[in-house]
Amino acid sequence: MKKQNPVRFAPLTTFPHIVHGGDYNPDQWLSSPDILQQDISLMHKAHINSATVAIFAWSALEPEEGVYSFGWLDETLDRLYENGIRTVLATPSGARPAWLDRNHPEAMRVSNMGVRNHHGVRHNHCYTSPYYRAKVAEIDGKLAERYGRHPGVILWHLSNEYGGECYCDLCRAAFRDFLREKYGDIDTLNQQWWNAFWSHTFRSFDEIEPPLPNGETSTHGLNLDWKRFVTRQTTAFMKNEIAAIRQYSDLPVTTNLMGLYPGLDYRVLARELDLVSWDSYPRWHAYGVGDDVTAVQTAFAHDLMRCVHPSKKPFFLMESTPSVVNWMDVNKLKRPGMHALSSIHAIAHGADSVQYFQFRKSRGACEKLHGAVVDHAGHAQTRVFREVSELGETLGKLDELVGTATVSRVALLYDWDNRWAIEDLRGLNKRRRYPETCQEHYRYFCEAGINVDIIGRDDPFDGYDLLIAPMMYMAPDGMGEKMRRFTESGGTLVATYLTGYVNENDLCHLGGWPGVGLDELFGIRCEEIDALYEPERVEAAYCEENVLRLQGSFQAQDLCELIHCTTAEPVAVYRSEFYAGMPLITHRRAGKGHVYYIAARTGEEQLHAFYEALARQTGIVAPLGNLPAGVHAAVRSDGLQDYIFVMNFCSDAVTVPSTRAYTDLCTKETAGEDGFTLKPYGYVILKRKHHDGDSGGSSAG
Ligand code: GLA
Ligand code: ZN
Repeated sequence: MKKQNPVRFAPLTTFPHIVHGGDYNPDQWLSSPDILQQDISLMHKAHINSATVAIFAWSALEPEEGVYSFGWLDETLDRLYENGIRTVLATPSGARPAWLDRNHPEAMRVSNMGVRNHHGVRHNHCYTSPYYRAKVAEIDGKLAERYGRHPGVILWHLSNEYGGECYCDLCRAAFRDFLREKYGDIDTLNQQWWNAFWSHTFRSFDEIEPPLPNGETSTHGLNLDWKRFVTRQTTAFMKNEIAAIRQYSDLPVTTNLMGLYPGLDYRVLARELDLVSWDSYPRWHAYGVGDDVTAVQTAFAHDLMRCVHPSKKPFFLMESTPSVVNWMDVNKLKRPGMHALSSIHAIAHGADSVQYFQFRKSRGACEKLHGAVVDHAGHAQTRVFREVSELGETLGKLDELVGTATVSRVALLYDWDNRWAIEDLRGLNKRRRYPETCQEHYRYFCEAGINVDIIGRDDPFDGYDLLIAPMMYMAPDGMGEKMRRFTESGGTLVATYLTGYVNENDLCHLGGWPGVGLDELFGIRCEEIDALYEPERVEAAYCEENVLRLQGSFQAQDLCELIHCTTAEPVAVYRSEFYAGMPLITHRRAGKGHVYYIAARTGEEQLHAFYEALARQTGIVAPLGNLPAGVHAAVRSDGLQDYIFVMNFCSDAVTVPSTRAYTDLCTKETAGEDGFTLKPYGYVILKRKHHDGDSGGSSAG
């Protein structure tokens, strides 16, 4: 077992408690002072200790260009603070006042058909426009100057859900500069984008346009670089906001990310933030999808968000809904108990806050039916309010969790540019399912309570015992060597079909797949890849003697690579199709470690059996042993105490056998060996003395 020391991170803000609150928009209620007063007593009743203010408040802050109106915000912040409620203060760049768009249309985004937006909605500014950047810096600076030292303010919230793309002339020119900087000369770019294809060779950078639906769509290197440019430009826009704040305030800055949102490489953005926060809206109780499956997908996103920050410290759950959203096809109520469970679930995976969109429901416009803590009825006698309030009371007892770490012996690779390249490739079949596949490989660990870090290929691998790299299609030079070093020192590595096909610019590796030396490391050679129709299955079975001692048969689907073992040994083989007898799973000892290659997409049952066996072999043991179906666990730790979250995603009660004495963190009762019962959607946080390795899987024996 590689040694990792659990730590307690410093609290993320000057308020060392679990932050409970959410978006609060007093600017929508300025003509109803009675309601603003009621808000305070309702916040107290709901055990809310923080409000996120001014997200879209620009027209209330600067009703005319250069004419400011801060009185209402002064009063809001003071009123909150005097009543013991802290403020997360937002910058208003996510939506613009009408005067701004009228005076400076260049702030409005241009679509990929070259059409400039009209004024309206939100999240639609040009991120390049020097005018808009200057205007944003001005208002942000004014806010920071005025409130940067307000005792109630604990955190800056930059803009809101940065996203989308702009194709205006300024952005096109900036894209060309980005390419000049990256490639230096046009011949290098032509080579890396393979531009001799279809006569696409450029003579100068000035000839290059972004990918456009009625223009270029077929140059994969261009598509990738455009997405990287969008990330860079959005980050630059965000840094402009941070710099404006930093003139006057040292408080931490965050922005609310969106989990698996594909449009931005969040690892690049997160590097600039003091802490990561994100907006989580799982589809609980979806038709035909078990809540335990939704829980795995949600946990994956929490772990990804925790790990996009280089520190992997706790994050903030900046938004969630206390009841329903208004933008799904079917906006179903959270069943009683699910609100507390899903909030605790976020904390289990590293959140130090539970925040909502929003505190009080808007009276008009398109979010008037979106769930909120306070409904249009305006009082506390609702099921939703009661559940929020009960949760708030519980969160008030969990201070000791603040800053505790998530220690993982297992890491799973998930890279945005890999996703872009996989989704862009033409060929195979349409069932790419990169994020879904990563979640399927993650599932066993998530259910068993074995922590997993979701990391990028540029993150360090040392410290992990098991590294899982599903569909690592994009493997730049150096990737083979990095993985070899990981296994040399004792790590176990798992890769799958579609590994090492292309470099970072989407040029295929020559000399056989998997490229960059991974063929040698895995001891295999991939010759072809078969794509199946959706219902088709290929039979497969474990070899009689195999290192994982697995038995029986299973099926492959969607994508089946035809591989040969060079120095690896087969663990399982295909049993039907013309490739019957060829290896499907292989194993090889590499240095002090092991490498496994899974050459086809298999079902979740097979992955469960595989990872259960692999965890056993690697000495990674689930902290509570086998849990009943639908019950998941996760562990936080400060190195002295472990906090094991056990969560029941079933609508029935279940009994969990327990093995060692613990204290229930919420009730402070001590219990022992006889196990415990969880209510439908119930949870318990077990506190027990730290056991080396329990956070993230303990050492066998
Ligand atoms: C996003 C936004 C919020 C709100 C919610 C509704 O997360 O950030 O302003 O619109 O969606 O679910
Ligand atoms: Zn633009």
